[in-house]
Amino acid sequence: MAMPSLEGKVAFVSGASRGIGAALAVRFAQMGMRLALCARGEPVLPESANVLSRRLDVRDAGAFEALTAEIEARFGTVDLWINNAGVLEPIRPIREVSVAEFRDHVDTNLVGVFIGTRCYVRHLRRAGRGGVLVNMSSGAAWKPYAGWGAYCAGKSGLERLTEVVAAEEADHGLRAYSVAPGVVDTAMQAQIRASRESDFPERERFVRRKQTGAFNDPVFVADELLAIAFDPARRPGQVAVRIAFDGEPTT
Ligand SMILES: NC(=O)c1ccc[n+]([C@@H]2O[C@H](COP(=O)([O-])OP(=O)(O)OC[C@H]3O[C@@H](n4cnc5c(N)ncnc54)[C@H](OP(=O)(O)O)[C@@H]3O)[C@@H](O)[C@H]2O)c1
Repeated sequence: MAMPSLEGKVAFVSGASRGIGAALAVRFAQMGMRLALCARGEPVLPESANVLSRRLDVRDAGAFEALTAEIEARFGTVDLWINNAGVLEPIRPIREVSVAEFRDHVDTNLVGVFIGTRCYVRHLRRAGRGGVLVNMSSGAAWKPYAGWGAYCAGKSGLERLTEVVAAEEADHGLRAYSVAPGVVDTAMQAQIRASRESDFPERERFVRRKQTGAFNDPVFVADELLAIAFDPARRPGQVAVRIAFDGEPTT
């Protein structure tokens, strides 16, 4: 069966001010979808008839619930909800990371994903129908990178959280996935290359990737997510999905 038309379908994307989230927003808009976008800065697409564009910090549960209600009132049920917002820092060995830095990181990459996930599940329960949840993961969920203690802990927590919500809501039509997008050349990759070898021993590998251009195109990532969500022939058989794993661990 071919992919159904995406015209008029509704997607939510957090972290849509730059990088992967911004590329997803632009690609989804090209496909005729209606979008709800957020980031702390301005999302890549401004407010329009088909775009609800808001500044939002995913750590703010009250604001996230209010945004969900606004999306619901404007577009009805969200077909595809992507918790993409994330941070990488601190990049340092655990012995040098403060409690405040660790908490701050997990507050975005894990608590923020929990809040977004809960917003979507409550939204679907109110609607009485199913939908597709994507929580943006990373190879750091399964590989312990020295120097990325908070990032690895947050992403592996995200994967288990996604498996739990998939189990809890399967009978109510939710399909939930944690998706590792592969290595995409965004501001986050620039942060990796700017880190110190003593803080992140694998830095050189990422510098080499830049030299050889070994990155996933974010448009490819967007199309893979659309296929996972809307092409019945591409439905993953498991919750944890890696996009175009090329034999090397992704970030
Ligand atoms: N790039 C890669 O190679 C790669 C690989 C694996 C996984 N990932 C994952 O993919 C996702 C996107 O990464 P990226 O590479 O596109 O990073 P990026 O270029 O640094 O963009 C991160 C996005 O998240 C937003 N964000 C950060 N904290 C936020 C908060 N508290 N509330 C709302 N929005 C927030 C940022 O916007 P504001 O600063 O405006 O809020 C920005 O739009 C992340 O979850 C990352 O872990 C990336």
